[in-house]
Amino acid sequence: MTQIKKIGLYTSGGDSPGMNAAIRAVVRTAIYYGIEVVGIRRGYEGMTKGDFIPMNRKSVSNIIQRGGTILKTARCDNFRTPEGRQQAYDQLKKHNIDALVGIGGDGTFTGAKIFGAEFDMPIIGLPGTIDNDLMGTDFTIGYDTAINTVVEAVDKIRDTAESHDRLFIVEVMGRDSGLIALRTGIAAGAEAILIPESKGGMDGLFNRLENGRKDKTSRIVIVAEGEEAGGAFEVGRLVQERFPHYDTRISILGHIQRGGAPSCMDRVLASRVGAAAVEALRDGHRNEMIGIIHNEIAYTPFEHAIKHHVEINPNLLKLVEILSM
Ligand code: F6P
Repeated sequence: MTQIKKIGLYTSGGDSPGMNAAIRAVVRTAIYYGIEVVGIRRGYEGMTKGDFIPMNRKSVSNIIQRGGTILKTARCDNFRTPEGRQQAYDQLKKHNIDALVGIGGDGTFTGAKIFGAEFDMPIIGLPGTIDNDLMGTDFTIGYDTAINTVVEAVDKIRDTAESHDRLFIVEVMGRDSGLIALRTGIAAGAEAILIPESKGGMDGLFNRLENGRKDKTSRIVIVAEGEEAGGAFEVGRLVQERFPHYDTRISILGHIQRGGAPSCMDRVLASRVGAAAVEALRDGHRNEMIGIIHNEIAYTPFEHAIKHHVEINPNLLKLVEILSM
């Protein structure tokens, strides 16, 4: 058992629904084990500046159902420099913080990996991103809520698309990852999806529009923001150029995907990994992300969590094609 007395807790990078549920779980589990928690505001930026707040049982009351993050979040250039990281370490030492729990995605764990190698400071990461693009967990905190938000929005778009016999190009988030587009494409019955991981998507879409069923009155194409052609506006322009007879419209869903009350799935995931983070630190784990794989808590070193791009299941891509006949 490692003697941890005070944990510094932060959220970093893009926020995701369920981060608050994770914050609550970390704070309350730490209190349960007699460990103090200090909230670090605005991620690494707050760490370098010493923007710390004490947290107790009450400071996490009534937040399990709230989207966003009560600790706020930021992307911090200063922490990318050795001087910035030294400032952060000095602040942590000054406040007697002897371990960290960071909630975020790729960028958060890249920072944590470097910091954990440079200084003697155990860090545990929790996967908080709507993109679901981390290894070492089946799902990230926020993904389930985000895809449900998308499906609800696309269902509404379909109503108007059907009324007007229109083709809609709907852009969803995912600068580097098509996992939001892939699942929501299946769930919303999309005609086609375009994602960064798969090349030649435009040709596939043209092919479908040219050779697919002609009696369809409305069509929905889901586009991840980072796909090859350059996003929904460019896809829309190319489609209109080639198929001027389609009444085409563009809809960018944007940041509504990052907000809102977390789903039950996200709250449970966040609560489980939040509690497991404190227990992991007590058990001497360090520089690992905690996820859930096949319903079991899983520990993955930061470099593996961020190293690979999560594979896109080709069967799911094929499913979109088959079911949209
Ligand atoms: O990392 C999550 C994410 O939502 C990406 O899907 C998206 O590309 C990005 O954040 C947008 O970030 P920002 O809010 O900083 O523009």
